[in-house]
Amino acid sequence: MSHAPLEALPLEVLRRRSSTKWRTYPDDVLPMFVAETDYPLAPAITARLAEAVAIGDTGYTPPDPGLGRAFAAFSQRRFGWTVDPERVRSTADVMMGVVELLRATTAPGDRVVIAPPVYPPFAICIEEAGCLVEPVPLQAPTADTDGWRLDLAGIERALGDGARAVLLCNPHNPTGTVYPAADLAALADIAARHGAVVISDEIHGPLVRGGVTYTPFLTASPTAAEVGFAVTSASKAYNLAGLKCALMVTAHDRTTAVVRSLNPEVEWRTGLFGALAAVAAFDAASDEWLDAERTALERNRTLLTELLRTHLPLARYREPDAGYLAWIDVSAYGWGDDPAVHLRRTAKVALHHGPEFGPEGRGYVRLNFGCSPEVLTEAIERIAAVAGTERASA
Ligand SMILES: Cc1ncc(COP(=O)(O)O)c(C=O)c1O
Repeated sequence: MSHAPLEALPLEVLRRRSSTKWRTYPDDVLPMFVAETDYPLAPAITARLAEAVAIGDTGYTPPDPGLGRAFAAFSQRRFGWTVDPERVRSTADVMMGVVELLRATTAPGDRVVIAPPVYPPFAICIEEAGCLVEPVPLQAPTADTDGWRLDLAGIERALGDGARAVLLCNPHNPTGTVYPAADLAALADIAARHGAVVISDEIHGPLVRGGVTYTPFLTASPTAAEVGFAVTSASKAYNLAGLKCALMVTAHDRTTAVVRSLNPEVEWRTGLFGALAAVAAFDAASDEWLDAERTALERNRTLLTELLRTHLPLARYREPDAGYLAWIDVSAYGWGDDPAVHLRRTAKVALHHGPEFGPEGRGYVRLNFGCSPEVLTEAIERIAAVAGTERASA
């Protein structure tokens, strides 16, 4: 069933928002950096939060706010992933879940594999957990491969060499890669062979594009269910990051025991508004909104391809299979290792800095297209105007 695209709020409304996206730069800068979207909230979330505000329901999160049941129903409906509600625990955000799971499964000084270019807090949180980062870069697309791939042989070498865990991003930020089930199953086998765990950040899972099969890591194989921890949240798809609620999901008694052994404070830190909003997000009543958002993102994905082809033909970009983040190689324009610095100053467009995702990100920017087609068009036109002026004066 196709849905009309969800329409973003107008810029004059968005500029009244007080979040990072809207309060980091002055109004003459178009903010396309941090992963917040410009859409109105799903109506069921608005209603639930409005009711809570009306009665001052702003206390602590109760022992069972219904997150396990809500997420299990959502994952069954949307992905065919059978989750046992008893094996779902909450915490404040995905990265806090990652840090706590790393602390519980590794010892200080252990090495943890990541696949850069990857979401910059991965490295930061591995260090917060007292571990060391072991980069095994993604394999870039070639003429023969369709998209970015995990370097499974490299991961096998790293784990064989003593690394204790893999911090996976599935779907991947910033490339938007949705890993094939076979690669995830192979990764699980490698981890099992070396007694390592896989912590899989699945926050972008709800936003996989139509026609692409998303395999939640825990469903990739019985071994994946044994070695894996999934950490996820409604916060990216439903723009709820400020409300502080994420989920840790397991599928085996051993991993479930690890989550249950975490300090009770980890769960206590879940925000009540985050829990209320997530339950409303995962409810079937919000499915239509989510599909309308996915339609809007599909429209922007195609639009961005067109805009780049027309206005920035030297840019290299592969449409992401999930999410609203575009990973764009603009190195041909000569804007240096970190083009976002130059473009914020000259084009007045704020993009995420490629090199923060790892050295593989030199010459890249990450652009958030969870906005209106008009804002996306203006951003690319502003950047193209800079490219044009520079070419003319060269
Ligand atoms: C892959 C990934 N993980 C985690 C997060 C942050 O999630 P949280 O705010 O729940 O820590 C983001 C935000 O963009 C993300 O892209």
